[in-house]
Amino acid sequence: MGYAVEAIDLVKVYRVGKREVWALRGLNLKVKEGEFLAVVGPSGSGKSTLLNLIGALDRPTSGAVLVDGIDTSKLSDSELSRFRNEKIGFVFQSFNLINRISVIRNVELPAMVKGTPKDVRERRARELLEEVGLGDKIYMKPLELSGGEQQRVAIARALINNPRFVLADEPTGNLDSVTSKEIYRLLRRLNRMHGTTVIVVTHDLELAQECDRIVYLRDGKVEREVIPVER
Ligand SMILES: Nc1ncnc2c1ncn2[C@@H]1O[C@H](COP(=O)(O)OP(=O)(O)OP(=O)(O)O)[C@@H](O)[C@H]1O
Ligand SMILES: [Mg+2]
Repeated sequence: MGYAVEAIDLVKVYRVGKREVWALRGLNLKVKEGEFLAVVGPSGSGKSTLLNLIGALDRPTSGAVLVDGIDTSKLSDSELSRFRNEKIGFVFQSFNLINRISVIRNVELPAMVKGTPKDVRERRARELLEEVGLGDKIYMKPLELSGGEQQRVAIARALINNPRFVLADEPTGNLDSVTSKEIYRLLRRLNRMHGTTVIVVTHDLELAQECDRIVYLRDGKVEREVIPVER
């Protein structure tokens, strides 16, 4: 069976002047289609580096990442941007919304880049904003919303091109615990409804319990894995 993501002996070395920083030291990981995976571990253990390599925002020093069976290191730059735009939805701690345009236009952006006709992408953006509970705020500006609402906009934006993957790097890092829980429930619901594979980096072990599997990183490798018990 093919995996949604397969990281094979993944090594990432950053060069800082003459120094080498080994962010990943031969990491192996398989993620199943439709899985909701949490990645946890101490600061500097390589979580963001791993997510960036899976999302093809960066290239490995050695080893390979297969995403949907595609070795992203073999893609050209233009193939890579298309791959990212159509297959992957990114969600960041800092929301990364554009504050001078409305919520609905923010959500439409990746579809605009893809070339989806205006009426189609607008309809889809509306549906998604309904789904994340913001149907009545689509013409507001991001900064007029609460942090949790802004992150829900970012999640709707991540889903606009029907990606196979959502990659979220500490999506609740700027949110209080009640709102964080809501964001997890939302990611979980979208994962079940759309069958999207979700990989979320977090420091919050309690939230990680909401996921199908928790992968612990240490020193750029997988230290251990845990399947949370159903509650
Ligand atoms: N662009 C970069 N240039 C140089 N070193 C980097 C770069 N990005 C990350 N590193 C280094 O690689 C290692 C892993 O960093 P990474 O950001 O993946 O950790 P992390 O697990 O996400 O940590 P945190 O929980 O603090 O976000 C760290 O030692 C970091 O300093
Ligand atoms: Mg990080």
